[in-house]
Amino acid sequence: MFRTRITEFFGIKYPIIQGGMMWISRAELVAAVSNAGGLGILTAFTFPDPKELAAEIKKTRALTDKPFGVNITLLPTFRPVDIDGYIDTVIDSGVKIVETAGRSPEPYMNRLKASEVKVIHKCTAVRFARTAQRIGCDAVSIDGFECAGHPGEEDVTSLVLIPLSADAVGIPVIASGGFGDGRGLVAALALGAEAVNMGTRFMATKEAPGHPKVKELLITASERDTVLLLRSFRNTMRALRNPTAENVLELEKQGGDIDQLETLISGRAGLGLLESGDVNNGLLSVGQVVGLVHDIPTVKELIDRIVKEAEEVASNLAGASIFRPRRLTDVSE
Ligand SMILES: Cc1cc2nc3c(=O)[nH]c(=O)nc-3n(C[C@H](O)[C@H](O)[C@H](O)COP(=O)(O)O)c2cc1C
Repeated sequence: MFRTRITEFFGIKYPIIQGGMMWISRAELVAAVSNAGGLGILTAFTFPDPKELAAEIKKTRALTDKPFGVNITLLPTFRPVDIDGYIDTVIDSGVKIVETAGRSPEPYMNRLKASEVKVIHKCTAVRFARTAQRIGCDAVSIDGFECAGHPGEEDVTSLVLIPLSADAVGIPVIASGGFGDGRGLVAALALGAEAVNMGTRFMATKEAPGHPKVKELLITASERDTVLLLRSFRNTMRALRNPTAENVLELEKQGGDIDQLETLISGRAGLGLLESGDVNNGLLSVGQVVGLVHDIPTVKELIDRIVKEAEEVASNLAGASIFRPRRLTDVSE
């Protein structure tokens, strides 16, 4: 069940993708997702240089013989990043799937295509999906406003962006942002997507790195506990609402420039929070779907559960003369 062009293109069992997550998408998580039938994606820039990415790719290969990808995020950074070096590493390592995000991957497409690398471009608007198709991307991942990371500047939710994108392009669309359970998977397919891409939900698994206090927080946080930062720089990021996030908002309100914010928003501060468990100090990308996170399962438990729920929801939808929603938590009638 649930075979799509995405499962065929990428040689995976289920249409479930783990999007690249800075500091989080390392070999253990990525291999666990791929071993469980999804598609795991490493984040290139988690590794300080292309050589270390090459070592992580090797490590991932030792943990899985299934396909996996590498994320290359094309966003402004404080310091120059050797994007060409990372792309060469992906190609030389024989990885055949790249997820790009942020700016257009056009400058890198010829090299990637010449090496038969399939490119998923993750974007936040229908016109960007069209561009991705025009420049030769194999699939687009559409990040709706709910998503963790960078939702763009237009605030259109997945519910609207996904069907519009599916109507606008012929390449497969992957629904990203706000997905975390079997109901979401069926909804994504109903909207015209051929897979879901999840970040926040995979961060709340046993194999994802992160201090136990961070994982606990993911269970207790509600859908109202995220906040949009860096709007004033048109580089909006959705993160957990905590004192550091409040500080960033305050500095933005006062017209602070990006250099004043560097220590608060630098990737290092995010890594510090993850490793120390001091959840008030540093920024953590989190999507609104965190409200649907109630436990920390293994990746396999999570994927099996999502597929089982989705099968039940789909057959319920198909067979019932009076539809009764599938509830995932007990509620009194
Ligand atoms: C902690 C964290 C870090 C992320 N880092 C990146 C990143 O470096 N590059 C990127 O393209 N997307 C990044 N994302 C976004 C995810 O790949 C994915 O698009 C997003 O989480 C989907 O929304 P969801 O969280 O509602 O599932 C990150 C997400 C999280 C939760």
